[in-house]
Amino acid sequence: MTPNKYHLYELSVQSPDVHAAWLEELYKGLTKKHARHLREDFCGTFKTSVEWVKRNPKNTALCLDLDSEPLDYGRENHLAPLSAEQKSRVKILQKDVLIPTKTEVDLISAGNFSFYIFKQRSLLLKYFSSCKKSLKTGGMVVLELAGGPGMIAPMREKKEVALSKTQKFVYTWHQKSFDPITHDAQYAIHFKLPSGRVMKDQFVYDWRLWTIPEVRDALSEVGFKKTLVYWETAHKGKGTGEYVHMEQGDNSFSWVAYVIGIK
Ligand SMILES: C[S@@+](CC[C@H](N)C(=O)[O-])C[C@H]1O[C@@H](n2cnc3c(N)ncnc32)[C@H](O)[C@@H]1O
Repeated sequence: MTPNKYHLYELSVQSPDVHAAWLEELYKGLTKKHARHLREDFCGTFKTSVEWVKRNPKNTALCLDLDSEPLDYGRENHLAPLSAEQKSRVKILQKDVLIPTKTEVDLISAGNFSFYIFKQRSLLLKYFSSCKKSLKTGGMVVLELAGGPGMIAPMREKKEVALSKTQKFVYTWHQKSFDPITHDAQYAIHFKLPSGRVMKDQFVYDWRLWTIPEVRDALSEVGFKKTLVYWETAHKGKGTGEYVHMEQGDNSFSWVAYVIGIK
């Protein structure tokens, strides 16, 4: 049977338990309070939210995505195994993140560079403003960004990922094009199954690569009180997976960073 593309994607790029723990720690470190109510934007199969509700019986998660396909996959594969009580703390909405949500949350997480889908500055401002309206005072939006020369060079980055104890598949991150004038960039994800069958263009992205200062300026413009950047620490020239607050970064070939807007 052909593995589902969302299953392959999750195995290749996600560590939702690590991310949920990091969000919890980040909020506690910055506010000295516990975050309880998370909104996961562009949630796809909403694995971070499922991990979030498992972490504490007081935690709730609101999951937003426009596409019913990943939401249905998440319902069948991640929501179904939860207890009835845990399920009652997850709310899944097929909804545009540009529209503010009614219940105010402590934290909004936008993972995997997803807000790069907003190419016009007016849309970026609309999204950040909608986040601000949906957050409690003191709440924060956590945006995941990527950049550096290694994010714009035309290339294919491959890695082998375990599918089972005995089988591996190949995940390919394909950087198709980048326009230095518009900062528009096209990417795709392909998989090669253990059988040799290639699943091409399973995920395609048409993004604008916003820079960190542009994002910070936009957050401030819509009224976020403070913005912070969490940058990955390095050891012997390699990323450690640990992110700390920094106001100056090293000129990495490619980087992933978090910009945080505090209401
Ligand atoms: C790159 S995937 C991210 C999946 C997941 N968050 C992750 O970190 O792996 C982007 C998701 O954003 C959703 N999306 C795109 N535009 C959206 C919008 N305006 N509102 C809500 N979801 C949107 C797409 O349907 C897609 O599932």
